[in-house]
Amino acid sequence: MKHFISMQQLSKETMNQILKEAESIRKSPKTMNKQLFAANLFFEPSTRTKMSFEVAQKKLGLEMLDLHTEASSLVKGESLYDTAKTFEAIGADVLVVRHPSDYWIDEIEEAGGLRIPVINAGSGKEEHPTQCMLDLLTMYQEFGNVEGRKVVIAGDIQHSRVARSNALALEKLGAKVYLSAAPGFEDNSLHYPYITMDEAVEIADVVMLLRIQHERHIHKAETSDYLTLYGLTMERASKMKKHAIIMHPAPINRGVEIDTKLVESKQSRIFKQMENGVYVRMAILIHVLKEWGIIHENEINERK
Ligand code: CP
Repeated sequence: MKHFISMQQLSKETMNQILKEAESIRKSPKTMNKQLFAANLFFEPSTRTKMSFEVAQKKLGLEMLDLHTEASSLVKGESLYDTAKTFEAIGADVLVVRHPSDYWIDEIEEAGGLRIPVINAGSGKEEHPTQCMLDLLTMYQEFGNVEGRKVVIAGDIQHSRVARSNALALEKLGAKVYLSAAPGFEDNSLHYPYITMDEAVEIADVVMLLRIQHERHIHKAETSDYLTLYGLTMERASKMKKHAIIMHPAPINRGVEIDTKLVESKQSRIFKQMENGVYVRMAILIHVLKEWGIIHENEINERK
């Protein structure tokens, strides 16, 4: 049985199955008639991912255990593994973990592993699989599927786990992935073609913007000319195809990677993505709990 860690591990079939479940939950909400506990362990700040997991868990009827890292025994030096094992011992049925390291799951596995499933809520700069799934749901709602669609991921590619998870999944699903980045923000280990923002708006079905992750830069990046040189300005947006959409995982640096007037424009799906985060995370929780035999189909009902 697998933890939900990376888009690398998910087949096209599993992605489609989770997206179908999420869309079905959107139309007809579900809940579980069994007492189960979900523990949320966030070692990095989060608004959307943490809160939408909480809403997803509440809607599913899960009891929540929220670890406040600064008030926990982590400050006494307790390891991630011992923290996770503690939650397993006291009765958590699933762990949701956000962590600054790319390798935290290896640390847990090498120390002995867990008997409960773990969901990656964002790790280092490598993976953000639940964000990727909600991005895919947003594109599926728009286009039916992503096969042959041109998706330009633009911004701080070097530090973006969203870029990596999305590029990997979109390629697997038959989309054409392009990257766009200011000098110094590229990651040449990724094999997708780089284009300029002026080229991006002409060809894209989806312009997916990323913020500059100042917290992961050694030196604070200069942003005064960023919008004009590399961002989505009103002028560039006016050249987008009529059916093309603007996406952003958020948080947004308004006026840096995107003109603030575009954030809630007709072509923007940014807040739709956040809404979809709840449905997708409900579907992922159901998926892992079922896969691990913790819940069965007959214990999941429609929510009245
Ligand atoms: N998109 C995203 O992961 O946002 P948070 O960091 O607020 O969870």
